[in-house]
Amino acid sequence: MTPTGILAGLFLVLALYCGIDPWKQSAISGFPDFKSYKVEMPPWSLIPKEKDEENLLQRSEIKFLNQIQGPESMAFDPLGRGPYTGVADGRVLFYDGQKWTDFAYTSSNRSEICNPQPSPLSYLKNEHICGRPLGLRFDKKTGDLYIADAYFGLMKVGPEGGLATLLANEAEGIPLGFTNDLDIDDEGNIYFTDSSTTYQRRNFMQLVFSGENSGRVLKYSPATKETTVLVRNLQFPNGVSLSKDGSFFVFCEGSIGRLRKYWLKGEKSGTSEVLAIIPGFPDNVRTNEEGNFWVAVHCRRSFYAHINSQYPKLRTFLLKLPIPAKIHFLLQIGGWPHGLVVKYSPEGKLLQILEDSQGKVVKAISEVEEKDGKLWMGSVLMPFVMVYNLA
Ligand SMILES: *[C@@H]1O[C@H](CO)[C@@H](O)[C@H](O)[C@H]1NC(C)=O
Repeated sequence: MTPTGILAGLFLVLALYCGIDPWKQSAISGFPDFKSYKVEMPPWSLIPKEKDEENLLQRSEIKFLNQIQGPESMAFDPLGRGPYTGVADGRVLFYDGQKWTDFAYTSSNRSEICNPQPSPLSYLKNEHICGRPLGLRFDKKTGDLYIADAYFGLMKVGPEGGLATLLANEAEGIPLGFTNDLDIDDEGNIYFTDSSTTYQRRNFMQLVFSGENSGRVLKYSPATKETTVLVRNLQFPNGVSLSKDGSFFVFCEGSIGRLRKYWLKGEKSGTSEVLAIIPGFPDNVRTNEEGNFWVAVHCRRSFYAHINSQYPKLRTFLLKLPIPAKIHFLLQIGGWPHGLVVKYSPEGKLLQILEDSQGKVVKAISEVEEKDGKLWMGSVLMPFVMVYNLA
């Protein structure tokens, strides 16, 4: 056999292997309907290259280590108490300044399977039974807490806590698949995201790999109790936050890595436009007192991920190799977890980047909430809260 023949033979075996995945070792082996889609990335040259050379987030304090698993939102009630946060076992917890106590929960069917586990990822199997509260927001007038539960939908619980009640679990007849974040306007309307109707939260990695576009931005009206679709065909829409003046809200597009502005008032009402390109994989976004937006970015995106986004066939091929999902994920973020937060003006100007590019202290961030000169940061992947002092 010639070297070319051997090479061709090896290639054939590899292609066959990828086509069949006989030992079910690929990152998508449990997903027979998995398909990759093109993600229309902005040119690499337009991705912001600004860096926090000092890696200031390394000065963050790790709080409540192993006391809370996978906190996403960091919400404070109308009296300024908290934070409140949703954790991996389905509870919403409240920090009273001394200790954490149970505040609310989203599942009416909790049992010992929802009991504490060793790590945030060990809850995935039972999330659909125990619930998984992600985005949290208080209605400042009523003190009600609104919850985006990844499995159950949009929910609400009174100021006294307890079992949350369901407000919405479908739109246009299509069930919510991965309710993620929300915000409330002055009239009590809720703007919220359904990240995907194809992949559940526990399969967020496959959702990232796929780039599919079943995500939606929705509006729930308390007056009519109806949910309408504001924006559709989105690739992993995630955080939502109203502007300070309420004339628009912004939302994160996870797959592309963009911040989009949706007009609620004025002549552009009902339309949306790109506000900023985010350097990485964004999660939640929160408006601060000045009216600027803090975007929590899990990690930056590697050039490999950038190229992969645009070639779905190449992506599918690579995903069929016997490589665990976690390794693919690490390749997408450039090798190791490293969190960053980026602040934007209402006009989309990048105002500040804080990061830990080595991932020494802050490895991933799901949300950043500014309060009294501090940034409170949660992560669905970490067993603690991170606090950064802005002063
Ligand atoms: C309630 O939880 C049990 C497991 O603890 C599960 O087998 C059952 O299907 C759940 N029921 C509903 C209605 O979700």
